[in-house]
Amino acid sequence: MTTTEKNKANILTDRFGRIHDYLRISLTDNCNFRCSYCMPDLDHEFTPHEKLMTAGEIRAIAEEFVRLGVNKIRLTGGEPLIRKDFPEILSLLAPLNAELLISTNGFLLDRHLPDLLKAGIRTVNISLDSLRPEVFFKVTGQDKFERVWKNIHLMLDHGLRVKINVVAIKGIIEEEVLDFIDLTRDLPLHVRFIEFMPFTGNHWAGDQVVTASQLLEIAMERYDVVKLLDEPHATARKYMAIGHKGSFAFITTMSNQFCHECNRLRITAEGKLKNCLFGKDEIPLLELLRSGRDLHASIQESLQLKHKELGGQFDRDFKKVNPDAIANRSMISIGG
Ligand code: GTP
Ligand code: 5AD
Ligand code: SF4
Repeated sequence: MTTTEKNKANILTDRFGRIHDYLRISLTDNCNFRCSYCMPDLDHEFTPHEKLMTAGEIRAIAEEFVRLGVNKIRLTGGEPLIRKDFPEILSLLAPLNAELLISTNGFLLDRHLPDLLKAGIRTVNISLDSLRPEVFFKVTGQDKFERVWKNIHLMLDHGLRVKINVVAIKGIIEEEVLDFIDLTRDLPLHVRFIEFMPFTGNHWAGDQVVTASQLLEIAMERYDVVKLLDEPHATARKYMAIGHKGSFAFITTMSNQFCHECNRLRITAEGKLKNCLFGKDEIPLLELLRSGRDLHASIQESLQLKHKELGGQFDRDFKKVNPDAIANRSMISIGG
Protein backbone atom coordinates (compact mmCIF):
# COMPACT_ATOMS: atom_id res chain seq x y z
CA MET A 1 0.00 0.00 0.00
CA THR A 2 1.37 3.43 -0.91
CA THR A 3 1.44 6.22 1.71
CA THR A 4 -1.38 8.06 -0.05
CA GLU A 5 -3.52 4.92 -0.07
CA LYS A 6 -2.76 4.30 3.59
CA ASN A 7 -3.69 7.85 4.63
CA LYS A 8 -6.87 7.62 2.64
CA ALA A 9 -7.80 4.25 4.15
CA ASN A 10 -7.22 5.51 7.66
CA ILE A 11 -9.68 8.37 7.48
CA LEU A 12 -12.68 6.30 8.57
CA THR A 13 -11.18 4.89 11.76
CA ASP A 14 -13.22 4.50 14.93
CA ARG A 15 -12.21 4.70 18.61
CA PHE A 16 -11.12 1.06 18.53
CA GLY A 17 -8.81 1.44 15.55
CA ARG A 18 -11.18 -0.28 13.13
CA ILE A 19 -10.89 1.02 9.57
CA HIS A 20 -14.23 1.29 7.76
CA ASP A 21 -13.97 0.63 4.05
CA TYR A 22 -17.26 -1.22 3.39
CA LEU A 23 -20.53 0.68 2.93
CA ARG A 24 -23.95 -0.97 2.74
CA ILE A 25 -26.57 1.21 1.08
CA SER A 26 -30.24 0.34 1.37
CA LEU A 27 -32.14 1.44 -1.73
CA THR A 28 -35.63 0.90 -0.33
CA ASP A 29 -37.36 -0.41 2.77
CA ASN A 30 -39.99 -2.08 0.63
CA CYS A 31 -39.90 -5.65 -0.62
CA ASN A 32 -41.81 -8.03 -2.86
CA PHE A 33 -41.45 -10.80 -0.23
CA ARG A 34 -42.71 -10.91 3.36
CA CYS A 35 -40.14 -12.92 5.33
CA SER A 36 -41.24 -13.11 8.94
CA TYR A 37 -37.74 -12.75 10.43
CA CYS A 38 -37.22 -9.49 8.55
CA MET A 39 -40.51 -7.67 8.07
CA PRO A 40 -42.39 -6.95 11.30
CA ASP A 41 -46.06 -7.71 11.44
CA LEU A 42 -46.64 -4.51 13.36
CA ASP A 43 -47.82 -2.20 10.60
CA HIS A 44 -44.66 -1.48 8.67
CA GLU A 45 -44.93 1.87 6.97
CA PHE A 46 -42.82 2.04 3.88
CA THR A 47 -40.88 5.25 3.41
CA PRO A 48 -42.68 7.52 0.94
CA HIS A 49 -40.92 8.02 -2.35
CA GLU A 50 -39.90 11.65 -1.71
CA LYS A 51 -38.09 10.67 1.47
CA LEU A 52 -35.97 8.01 -0.22
CA MET A 53 -32.56 8.94 -1.52
CA THR A 54 -32.74 9.66 -5.24
CA ALA A 55 -30.29 8.00 -7.63
CA GLY A 56 -28.26 11.23 -7.74
CA GLU A 57 -28.21 11.54 -3.95
CA ILE A 58 -27.08 7.92 -3.59
CA ARG A 59 -24.24 8.69 -5.97
CA ALA A 60 -23.28 11.88 -4.09
CA ILE A 61 -23.24 10.12 -0.71
CA ALA A 62 -21.37 7.09 -2.08
CA GLU A 63 -18.84 9.34 -3.76
CA GLU A 64 -18.07 11.04 -0.44
CA PHE A 65 -17.51 7.68 1.26
CA VAL A 66 -15.24 6.49 -1.54
CA ARG A 67 -13.26 9.71 -1.18
CA LEU A 68 -12.87 8.83 2.51
CA GLY A 69 -11.55 5.33 1.81
CA VAL A 70 -14.54 3.05 1.19
CA ASN A 71 -13.67 0.43 -1.44
CA LYS A 72 -16.67 -1.90 -1.24
CA ILE A 73 -20.32 -0.89 -1.66
CA ARG A 74 -23.19 -3.33 -1.23
CA LEU A 75 -26.71 -2.45 -2.32
CA THR A 76 -29.38 -3.86 -0.05
CA GLY A 77 -33.04 -3.27 0.78
CA GLY A 78 -35.77 -4.26 1.50
CA GLU A 79 -35.31 -5.63 -1.97
CA PRO A 80 -32.97 -3.41 -3.99
CA LEU A 81 -34.13 -4.72 -7.37
CA ILE A 82 -37.68 -3.39 -6.98
CA ARG A 83 -36.48 0.20 -7.43
CA LYS A 84 -37.63 1.35 -10.86
CA ASP A 85 -34.42 3.35 -11.21
CA PHE A 86 -32.16 0.45 -10.21
CA PRO A 87 -30.36 0.46 -13.61
CA GLU A 88 -29.70 4.21 -13.26
CA ILE A 89 -28.37 3.74 -9.69
CA LEU A 90 -26.02 1.03 -10.92
CA SER A 91 -24.76 3.11 -13.79
CA LEU A 92 -24.06 6.03 -11.43
CA LEU A 93 -22.21 3.88 -8.89
CA ALA A 94 -20.27 1.69 -11.32
CA PRO A 95 -17.65 4.33 -12.21
CA LEU A 96 -16.72 4.87 -8.55
CA ASN A 97 -13.50 3.34 -7.36
CA ALA A 98 -15.19 0.64 -5.25
CA GLU A 99 -16.32 -2.94 -5.72
CA LEU A 100 -20.09 -2.98 -6.24
CA LEU A 101 -22.21 -5.85 -4.87
CA ILE A 102 -25.84 -6.64 -4.13
CA SER A 103 -27.84 -8.67 -1.64
CA THR A 104 -31.20 -9.69 -3.07
CA ASN A 105 -34.04 -12.16 -2.72
CA GLY A 106 -33.28 -13.17 -6.30
CA PHE A 107 -36.76 -12.87 -7.74
CA LEU A 108 -36.00 -10.07 -10.23
CA LEU A 109 -32.44 -11.07 -11.11
CA ASP A 110 -33.34 -12.28 -14.60
CA ARG A 111 -34.79 -8.85 -15.46
CA HIS A 112 -31.64 -7.07 -14.28
CA LEU A 113 -28.91 -9.43 -15.46
CA PRO A 114 -27.74 -7.14 -18.32
CA ASP A 115 -27.55 -4.16 -15.91
CA LEU A 116 -25.52 -6.17 -13.40
CA LEU A 117 -23.07 -7.36 -16.04
CA LYS A 118 -22.72 -3.87 -17.47
CA ALA A 119 -21.97 -2.45 -14.00
CA GLY A 120 -19.23 -5.05 -13.50
CA ILE A 121 -20.99 -6.89 -10.66
CA ARG A 122 -19.30 -10.27 -10.28
CA THR A 123 -20.91 -11.61 -7.08
CA VAL A 124 -24.52 -11.71 -5.91
CA ASN A 125 -25.76 -12.71 -2.47
CA ILE A 126 -29.18 -14.33 -2.71
CA SER A 127 -31.51 -15.18 0.20
CA LEU A 128 -32.92 -18.70 0.10
CA ASP A 129 -34.14 -20.14 3.38
CA SER A 130 -35.55 -23.41 2.12
CA LEU A 131 -35.16 -25.75 -0.83
CA ARG A 132 -38.74 -26.95 -0.44
CA PRO A 133 -41.24 -24.84 -2.40
CA GLU A 134 -43.98 -25.20 0.21
CA VAL A 135 -41.64 -24.18 3.06
CA PHE A 136 -40.26 -21.33 0.95
CA PHE A 137 -43.86 -20.12 0.51
CA LYS A 138 -44.46 -20.25 4.24
CA VAL A 139 -41.30 -18.27 5.07
CA THR A 140 -41.51 -15.62 2.34
CA GLY A 141 -45.27 -15.36 1.87
CA GLN A 142 -44.67 -15.85 -1.86
CA ASP A 143 -44.98 -18.98 -3.96
CA LYS A 144 -41.85 -18.04 -5.92
CA PHE A 145 -39.30 -20.75 -5.21
CA GLU A 146 -39.04 -21.90 -8.84
CA ARG A 147 -38.17 -18.48 -10.22
CA VAL A 148 -35.55 -17.78 -7.54
CA TRP A 149 -34.04 -21.21 -8.14
CA LYS A 150 -33.92 -20.61 -11.90
CA ASN A 151 -32.28 -17.25 -11.30
CA ILE A 152 -29.59 -18.80 -9.12
CA HIS A 153 -28.71 -21.04 -12.07
CA LEU A 154 -28.90 -18.11 -14.45
CA MET A 155 -26.29 -16.27 -12.37
CA LEU A 156 -24.00 -19.32 -12.29
CA ASP A 157 -24.42 -19.84 -16.04
CA HIS A 158 -23.24 -16.28 -16.59
CA GLY A 159 -20.13 -16.83 -14.50
CA LEU A 160 -21.24 -14.83 -11.47
CA ARG A 161 -20.17 -15.91 -8.01
CA VAL A 162 -23.25 -16.78 -5.96
CA LYS A 163 -23.52 -16.73 -2.19
CA ILE A 164 -26.73 -18.17 -0.78
CA ASN A 165 -27.90 -16.63 2.51
CA VAL A 166 -29.90 -19.07 4.60
CA VAL A 167 -31.38 -17.77 7.85
CA ALA A 168 -31.21 -20.68 10.30
CA ILE A 169 -34.89 -20.92 11.22
CA LYS A 170 -35.54 -23.36 14.01
CA GLY A 171 -37.73 -26.24 12.89
CA ILE A 172 -36.66 -25.80 9.25
CA ILE A 173 -32.90 -25.64 9.16
CA GLU A 174 -32.27 -28.85 11.10
CA GLU A 175 -34.16 -30.71 8.33
CA GLU A 176 -32.49 -28.90 5.46
CA VAL A 177 -28.91 -28.16 6.42
CA LEU A 178 -27.63 -31.31 4.73
CA ASP A 179 -29.69 -30.64 1.59
CA PHE A 180 -28.06 -27.21 1.32
CA ILE A 181 -24.58 -28.67 1.76
CA ASP A 182 -25.46 -31.36 -0.81
CA LEU A 183 -26.00 -28.56 -3.32
CA THR A 184 -22.37 -27.57 -3.02
CA ARG A 185 -21.24 -31.00 -4.28
CA ASP A 186 -21.85 -30.22 -7.95
CA LEU A 187 -22.54 -26.50 -7.94
CA PRO A 188 -19.92 -23.85 -7.11
CA LEU A 189 -22.28 -22.22 -4.61
CA HIS A 190 -21.27 -20.61 -1.32
CA VAL A 191 -24.00 -21.34 1.18
CA ARG A 192 -24.01 -19.25 4.36
CA PHE A 193 -26.11 -20.22 7.34
CA ILE A 194 -27.00 -17.11 9.36
CA GLU A 195 -27.87 -17.26 13.03
CA PHE A 196 -31.28 -15.71 13.69
CA MET A 197 -30.78 -12.13 14.94
CA PRO A 198 -33.08 -9.85 16.97
CA PHE A 199 -34.64 -6.83 15.29
CA THR A 200 -37.69 -4.77 16.08
CA GLY A 201 -40.88 -6.72 15.57
CA ASN A 202 -39.37 -10.05 14.45
CA HIS A 203 -40.39 -12.14 17.49
CA TRP A 204 -36.81 -13.11 18.24
CA ALA A 205 -36.17 -15.25 21.31
CA GLY A 206 -32.94 -16.86 22.47
CA ASP A 207 -34.44 -20.32 22.30
CA GLN A 208 -35.14 -19.80 18.59
CA VAL A 209 -31.45 -19.48 17.73
CA VAL A 210 -29.86 -22.48 16.06
CA THR A 211 -26.13 -21.99 16.42
CA ALA A 212 -23.32 -22.60 13.99
CA SER A 213 -21.88 -25.34 16.19
CA GLN A 214 -25.19 -27.21 16.24
CA LEU A 215 -25.34 -27.10 12.44
CA LEU A 216 -21.68 -28.00 12.03
CA GLU A 217 -22.23 -31.06 14.17
CA ILE A 218 -25.02 -32.23 11.86
CA ALA A 219 -22.81 -31.54 8.82
CA MET A 220 -19.89 -33.51 10.24
CA GLU A 221 -22.01 -36.59 10.79
CA ARG A 222 -22.37 -36.93 7.04
CA TYR A 223 -19.35 -35.19 5.51
CA ASP A 224 -15.61 -34.93 5.89
CA VAL A 225 -15.42 -31.22 6.54
CA VAL A 226 -12.40 -28.95 6.31
CA LYS A 227 -12.07 -25.38 7.55
CA LEU A 228 -11.21 -22.87 4.82
CA LEU A 229 -9.36 -19.60 5.20
CA ASP A 230 -11.68 -16.67 5.93
CA GLU A 231 -11.36 -13.42 4.03
CA PRO A 232 -10.31 -10.43 6.15
CA HIS A 233 -13.34 -8.78 7.82
CA ALA A 234 -15.63 -11.57 6.62
CA THR A 235 -18.84 -12.11 8.56
CA ALA A 236 -18.79 -15.78 7.59
CA ARG A 237 -16.66 -18.68 8.88
CA LYS A 238 -16.05 -20.89 5.85
CA TYR A 239 -15.95 -24.69 5.49
CA MET A 240 -15.97 -27.21 2.69
CA ALA A 241 -17.07 -30.79 2.40
CA ILE A 242 -14.09 -32.56 0.87
CA GLY A 243 -14.56 -33.08 -2.87
CA HIS A 244 -17.35 -30.54 -3.23
CA LYS A 245 -17.21 -27.70 -5.77
CA GLY A 246 -18.75 -25.12 -3.44
CA SER A 247 -18.39 -24.22 0.21
CA PHE A 248 -20.56 -23.48 3.21
CA ALA A 249 -20.18 -21.04 6.07
CA PHE A 250 -21.75 -19.72 9.23
CA ILE A 251 -22.52 -16.14 10.16
CA THR A 252 -22.22 -16.32 13.91
CA THR A 253 -23.54 -12.97 15.12
CA MET A 254 -25.25 -14.55 18.12
CA SER A 255 -22.82 -17.26 19.24
CA ASN A 256 -19.42 -15.91 18.26
CA GLN A 257 -19.27 -12.21 17.49
CA PHE A 258 -16.88 -10.78 14.94
CA CYS A 259 -17.25 -7.11 15.89
CA HIS A 260 -13.52 -6.68 16.53
CA GLU A 261 -13.03 -6.97 12.76
CA CYS A 262 -15.95 -4.78 11.77
CA ASN A 263 -15.32 -2.56 8.75
CA ARG A 264 -18.96 -1.72 7.93
CA LEU A 265 -21.12 1.37 7.85
CA ARG A 266 -24.72 1.49 6.66
CA ILE A 267 -27.05 3.98 5.04
CA THR A 268 -30.76 3.37 5.39
CA ALA A 269 -33.09 3.96 2.46
CA GLU A 270 -34.07 7.38 3.82
CA GLY A 271 -30.43 8.37 4.12
CA LYS A 272 -29.61 7.83 7.80
CA LEU A 273 -26.08 6.72 8.60
CA LYS A 274 -25.92 3.77 11.02
CA ASN A 275 -22.53 2.81 12.40
CA CYS A 276 -23.62 -0.70 13.45
CA LEU A 277 -26.30 -3.21 12.52
CA PHE A 278 -27.49 -3.08 16.13
CA GLY A 279 -26.64 0.54 16.87
CA LYS A 280 -29.26 3.10 17.80
CA ASP A 281 -27.27 6.19 16.80
CA GLU A 282 -28.27 7.58 13.44
CA ILE A 283 -26.99 10.60 11.55
CA PRO A 284 -29.36 12.16 8.96
CA LEU A 285 -26.91 12.29 6.07
CA LEU A 286 -29.56 12.86 3.41
CA GLU A 287 -30.98 15.82 5.30
CA LEU A 288 -27.48 17.28 5.56
CA LEU A 289 -26.85 16.71 1.87
CA ARG A 290 -30.17 18.33 0.94
CA SER A 291 -29.35 21.40 2.99
CA GLY A 292 -25.97 21.69 1.29
CA ARG A 293 -23.90 20.79 4.34
CA ASP A 294 -20.58 18.96 4.32
CA LEU A 295 -20.95 15.25 5.19
CA HIS A 296 -17.43 14.48 6.33
CA ALA A 297 -17.72 15.88 9.87
CA SER A 298 -20.99 14.05 10.51
CA ILE A 299 -19.58 10.78 9.22
CA GLN A 300 -16.67 11.20 11.63
CA GLU A 301 -19.07 11.96 14.44
CA SER A 302 -20.96 8.74 13.76
CA LEU A 303 -17.73 6.72 13.73
CA GLN A 304 -16.67 8.16 17.06
CA LEU A 305 -20.00 7.06 18.55
CA LYS A 306 -19.59 3.47 17.34
CA HIS A 307 -19.61 0.94 20.17
CA LYS A 308 -17.09 -1.83 20.59
CA GLU A 309 -19.63 -4.55 19.82
CA LEU A 310 -23.29 -5.21 19.09
CA GLY A 311 -24.16 -1.53 19.12
CA GLY A 312 -23.47 -1.56 22.86
CA GLN A 313 -26.95 -2.94 23.21
CA PHE A 314 -26.75 -6.54 24.24
CA ASP A 315 -24.85 -9.28 25.94
CA ARG A 316 -22.44 -11.55 24.05
CA ASP A 317 -24.28 -14.47 25.58
CA PHE A 318 -27.40 -14.56 23.41
CA LYS A 319 -29.28 -16.56 26.01
CA LYS A 320 -29.26 -13.44 28.20
CA VAL A 321 -30.55 -11.08 25.51
CA ASN A 322 -33.86 -9.35 26.14
CA PRO A 323 -35.04 -8.29 22.66
CA ASP A 324 -37.45 -5.72 24.12
CA ALA A 325 -34.53 -3.80 25.60
CA ILE A 326 -32.87 -3.25 22.20
CA ALA A 327 -33.58 0.13 20.60
CA ASN A 328 -33.22 -0.46 16.88
CA ARG A 329 -35.22 -0.78 13.69
CA SER A 330 -36.81 -3.68 11.89
CA MET A 331 -34.39 -5.52 9.60
CA ILE A 332 -36.29 -4.43 6.50
CA SER A 333 -35.67 -0.79 7.38
CA ILE A 334 -31.95 -1.34 8.06
CA GLY A 335 -31.02 -3.36 5.00
CA GLY A 336 -29.13 -6.26 6.57
P1 GTP B 1 -20.04 -10.57 1.89
O1 GTP B 1 -19.48 -9.27 1.55
O2 GTP B 1 -20.31 -11.42 0.71
O3 GTP B 1 -19.35 -11.30 3.00
O4 GTP B 1 -21.54 -10.29 2.41
P2 GTP B 1 -22.11 -9.76 3.75
O5 GTP B 1 -22.18 -10.88 4.70
O6 GTP B 1 -21.40 -8.53 4.16
O7 GTP B 1 -23.57 -9.30 3.26
P3 GTP B 1 -25.02 -9.93 3.17
O8 GTP B 1 -25.89 -8.79 2.77
O9 GTP B 1 -25.06 -11.11 2.31
O10 GTP B 1 -25.39 -10.32 4.65
C1 GTP B 1 -25.39 -11.64 5.12
C2 GTP B 1 -25.75 -11.63 6.58
O11 GTP B 1 -24.69 -11.07 7.32
C3 GTP B 1 -27.00 -10.83 6.91
O12 GTP B 1 -27.78 -11.52 7.85
C4 GTP B 1 -26.45 -9.58 7.51
O13 GTP B 1 -27.33 -9.00 8.41
C5 GTP B 1 -25.22 -10.11 8.18
N1 GTP B 1 -24.27 -9.03 8.32
C6 GTP B 1 -23.79 -8.23 7.34
N2 GTP B 1 -23.00 -7.30 7.84
C7 GTP B 1 -22.99 -7.51 9.18
C8 GTP B 1 -22.37 -6.85 10.26
O14 GTP B 1 -21.70 -5.86 10.13
N3 GTP B 1 -22.59 -7.36 11.49
C9 GTP B 1 -23.34 -8.43 11.71
N4 GTP B 1 -23.47 -8.83 12.95
N5 GTP B 1 -23.96 -9.07 10.72
C10 GTP B 1 -23.78 -8.61 9.48
N1 5AD C 1 -31.49 -12.75 11.26
C1 5AD C 1 -30.53 -13.18 10.41
N2 5AD C 1 -30.46 -12.81 9.12
C2 5AD C 1 -31.42 -12.02 8.65
N3 5AD C 1 -31.63 -11.50 7.43
C3 5AD C 1 -32.73 -10.73 7.48
N4 5AD C 1 -33.25 -10.73 8.73
C4 5AD C 1 -32.45 -11.54 9.48
C5 5AD C 1 -32.46 -11.95 10.84
N5 5AD C 1 -33.41 -11.54 11.68
C6 5AD C 1 -30.79 -11.75 6.26
C7 5AD C 1 -31.58 -12.01 4.98
C8 5AD C 1 -30.66 -11.54 3.89
C9 5AD C 1 -29.59 -10.76 4.60
C10 5AD C 1 -29.29 -9.44 4.01
O1 5AD C 1 -30.03 -10.61 5.94
O2 5AD C 1 -31.85 -13.34 4.83
O3 5AD C 1 -30.07 -12.60 3.22
FE1 SF4 D 1 -20.04 -4.41 13.25
FE2 SF4 D 1 -22.12 -3.98 14.80
FE3 SF4 D 1 -22.07 -6.09 13.15
FE4 SF4 D 1 -20.55 -5.99 15.35
S1 SF4 D 1 -22.77 -6.06 15.26
S2 SF4 D 1 -19.91 -6.64 13.30
S3 SF4 D 1 -19.97 -3.82 15.41
S4 SF4 D 1 -22.10 -3.94 12.55
